[in-house]
Amino acid sequence: MKKLTEHVSYVGVQNPSMRTFDIIMKTGYGSSYNSYVVRGEKTAVIETAHADYGKEFLANIEEILPAEKVDYVILNHTEPDHTGSLVTLLDVNPEIEVYGTVAAIRNVEAITNRKLNSHSVKTGEILDLGQGITLEFIVSPNLHWPDSMFTYFEKEQVLFSCDVFGSHYCEPEVLDCHVKKPELLRGERKNYYDCIFSPFQKFVRMGLDRIKDKKIELICPSHGPVLKEYLQETLEDYRSWSATKQEEKNIAIFYVSAYGYTKSMAEIFAREFKKQSITVTQYDLSETSQEEAAEALHKATAVLFGSPTINQDALKPIWDLISCTDAIHVRTAKTPALTFGSYGWSGEACGYLDERLRTLKYKVVGDGVTCVFKPAPEDEARIHQAAQVVLDAISE
Ligand code: FEO
Repeated sequence: MKKLTEHVSYVGVQNPSMRTFDIIMKTGYGSSYNSYVVRGEKTAVIETAHADYGKEFLANIEEILPAEKVDYVILNHTEPDHTGSLVTLLDVNPEIEVYGTVAAIRNVEAITNRKLNSHSVKTGEILDLGQGITLEFIVSPNLHWPDSMFTYFEKEQVLFSCDVFGSHYCEPEVLDCHVKKPELLRGERKNYYDCIFSPFQKFVRMGLDRIKDKKIELICPSHGPVLKEYLQETLEDYRSWSATKQEEKNIAIFYVSAYGYTKSMAEIFAREFKKQSITVTQYDLSETSQEEAAEALHKATAVLFGSPTINQDALKPIWDLISCTDAIHVRTAKTPALTFGSYGWSGEACGYLDERLRTLKYKVVGDGVTCVFKPAPEDEARIHQAAQVVLDAISE
């Protein structure tokens, strides 16, 4: 337990040796499941911890008060890294009233498999803990799930932000002013943003807008250090990273090629795009790491996927890359996509790829462009036409 302000204490669980978070994220500097106690006449716990750390979480609370005395648990977001230990607390104190958005309450009942004593909040609603301690709820969906909200403690100007402004970086002293290598924290903050929030940039902007008039002295996120010294810097970073950028349009062409014919098609497409002064990059997936290709996939204004048909299907590297699609980003960006590929005697690859791309909500801008073995002049003409369709799509 660490006291952060007169009324706010830290009761989270830290794991400096953690190197992988929820299977998907590398955590080179550990991480934490942050949780906070806010005390007035009544007591609220904001967020819990991962289920694996229930006992530690409970012990941290009980350094401050018996768990039976906790009145509320506030869940700004219900992903199990923040709700997993709720049952440990409820087992001791089933009377606790759980606060969250409508979606959060629905989620947490499905996560705990319990009918909870709960209250669904709306934006602007205030929970009065007595002694002038009030918590205001600011619903802000998709930070990082549709269930999310901020909780704002006006008297001490503390914002509880859950995933937003967080980082996988473990600082035992909790407050960011104790971080010895702030450049490492900055790097992890950006990494966290890229992994978690880059698909939700529009919602990050909306969230920042919702809190822009709040005076904030302390940000208490649910992972990584509590922000005081680097608070303004973090807010500025989020504004910058989430800003609508009028980036130059760029097209990424991903392909695999067995005999060089599909590669030739990729080159014809690329030449056609370059003629229109569009930035285009070709990625031969037999030579490109999946990480590099996936990053390019999400930064591209339009994408082309090329595969020959072999054994009546597209080749595995293309399927693997498509499986890296961030469906939320693609749906939001309406990313134009086109497939192409050479074949010998059947040409199923493009059709299968198109079907998958449509399911993922890419804006597939035409049937896949195929040619039999090596592209002939008439094939080139069809490729030029298809390239124009892609160019038209990114001009809309
Ligand atoms: Fe830290 Fe979206 O959970």
